[in-house]
Amino acid sequence: MSKPTLCVLYGSQTGTAQDTAQRIARQAQRRKLQVQVLPLDSYNVANLISESLVVFVCATTGQGDPPDNMKNFWRFVFRKSLPVGSLSRLDCAILGLGDSSYPKFNFVAKKLHKRLLQLGASVLLPVGLYPLDLTQHVMCGCILLPPTYTFHFLDDVKETTDDRLRIPTEQTVPSQSRPFPCRLVSNRRVTDVSHFQDVRHIEFDITGSSIEFAAGDVVMMRPCNASEDVEQFCQLLRLDPDARFTLRPTDHNAGVFPARLPQPCTVRHLMESYLDISAVPRRSFFELLSTFATNELERDKLVEFSSAAGQDELLSYCNRPRRTTLEVLADFPHTTAELKADYLLDLFPEIQPRSFSIASSLQAHPRRLQILVAVVHYKTKMYKPRKGLCSSWLASLDPAQGEVHVPLWVKKGTLKFPKEKDTPVIMVGPGTGVAPFRSALQERIAEGKYANILFFGCRSESKDFYFRSEWDEMMKAGHLTLFTAFSRDQEDKVYVQHRVRENAGLLWDLIANKSACFYIAGNAKEMPDAVCDALKEAFQKEGGVSAEDAEQMLATMERSGQLQSETWS
Ligand code: 2AM
Repeated sequence: MSKPTLCVLYGSQTGTAQDTAQRIARQAQRRKLQVQVLPLDSYNVANLISESLVVFVCATTGQGDPPDNMKNFWRFVFRKSLPVGSLSRLDCAILGLGDSSYPKFNFVAKKLHKRLLQLGASVLLPVGLYPLDLTQHVMCGCILLPPTYTFHFLDDVKETTDDRLRIPTEQTVPSQSRPFPCRLVSNRRVTDVSHFQDVRHIEFDITGSSIEFAAGDVVMMRPCNASEDVEQFCQLLRLDPDARFTLRPTDHNAGVFPARLPQPCTVRHLMESYLDISAVPRRSFFELLSTFATNELERDKLVEFSSAAGQDELLSYCNRPRRTTLEVLADFPHTTAELKADYLLDLFPEIQPRSFSIASSLQAHPRRLQILVAVVHYKTKMYKPRKGLCSSWLASLDPAQGEVHVPLWVKKGTLKFPKEKDTPVIMVGPGTGVAPFRSALQERIAEGKYANILFFGCRSESKDFYFRSEWDEMMKAGHLTLFTAFSRDQEDKVYVQHRVRENAGLLWDLIANKSACFYIAGNAKEMPDAVCDALKEAFQKEGGVSAEDAEQMLATMERSGQLQSETWS
């Protein structure tokens, strides 16, 4: 009899659902099941009809949206033409992951559950909505699994070219699987050197790339690890960074081949641009690492971190201080020295793409794409300050030191701007939140759309008021009304929401009588809610509506797209 087969399909935006799917797969392998684990969009959906057992692991993003790597599946499964009962042979379970503070918490898993039932599938377990501790049922730290790939090292040491930087000959629109290497034109600090934060205005040349974008769109890229981290990693694992290898899938392979890696590939290239060693490791990492431990002390600790009972301990060791995978490896030197190259792809997740709001318009800057990046740098109880991988990497790129190419692709953003010429837009974008609005302003002004209001907030007029001269020009031409809030230039904090409140009359008139659209973007956590509160107050004060009606108005505006926001952390 053939082994029972389980298919674990996931939709993951930040990697948590992927990690969970892989853990489920490992648990199943330990129970001697034949397992396949894939992102939903890499799976041939037509096969679902003949599949017998499937676990779906789905995250929910944004306003109840499916993650990018399950968007095609999502469209397919909701096709009206799919016959009811077409999945009647399928037994499945659905696990949802999401942030319970969002109103659309686990919307994707819930909706998929309903749809699968409609199509005739049998759902074996109640739809599991995270947080759900799957691993309570798992025994961990005792069985070493076979690797997914084996590394075949070559004897010769030659240069390996980075395939990512090869300019594609055919003209396809760049995508995650085929990004276009864009030349870095400039990388300029736009905050005063005495300011606490380094914010970069970065420009890429997209000539020849077929990249197109409109205001509100976002650009995607994958950062690289710092070379000193790669060196340290190779020392800890006793790997030669210049060694070249080819990858061969093993019988136990259940994943997607890492197509981004050149074949042959150097260890350095793998470590620099593929494996994520700077993220805070997940529990599954400790589970797997513990299987290599021969040193008793290290093994006990790793097994504890992998266990359900050890999760508080893991939180204080790893998550709270934001300890990186590399730092964890350095804390477990004996185990790390035991790690075999074959397991690298099982142990370390792939570096995930990062997104940035595009800060320029093709109409104002043809063949160029610009972004605004705050270099992330903060302190925890760890001795070394924590750095954001992507922003630090971007900040380190210097076109003066030789040509730099960064593989990019572009995605539609959530912010949409009105087509009608006369619809006014009100934009609230403190800090780097102003990026999509700079793009919108450049685009709108080029199209003769002059009813533009911008609320910008920063700490100090003299330190981080970037793009000031551009705003001045737009104002002089009569194309922009600007309100600024310099939070630290006086005793009491002044924020954008204070300026919104002060301009209640103007805003009420524009929104109620001229159907103005209202936008909020930025990374201050409480800012969007505070701005919405200020807007509600304006409706009450100027429109004479009750608090409930003001709330209702805002909800209606949100539903119709008259109020839009894009926030990030
Ligand atoms: P602060 O750092 O002085 O508190 C861009 O980061 C600007 O957003 C800064 O002036 C910052 O002020 C401000 N900011 C911080 N928290 C905010 C909030 N909750 N609402 C609005 N603006 C905020």
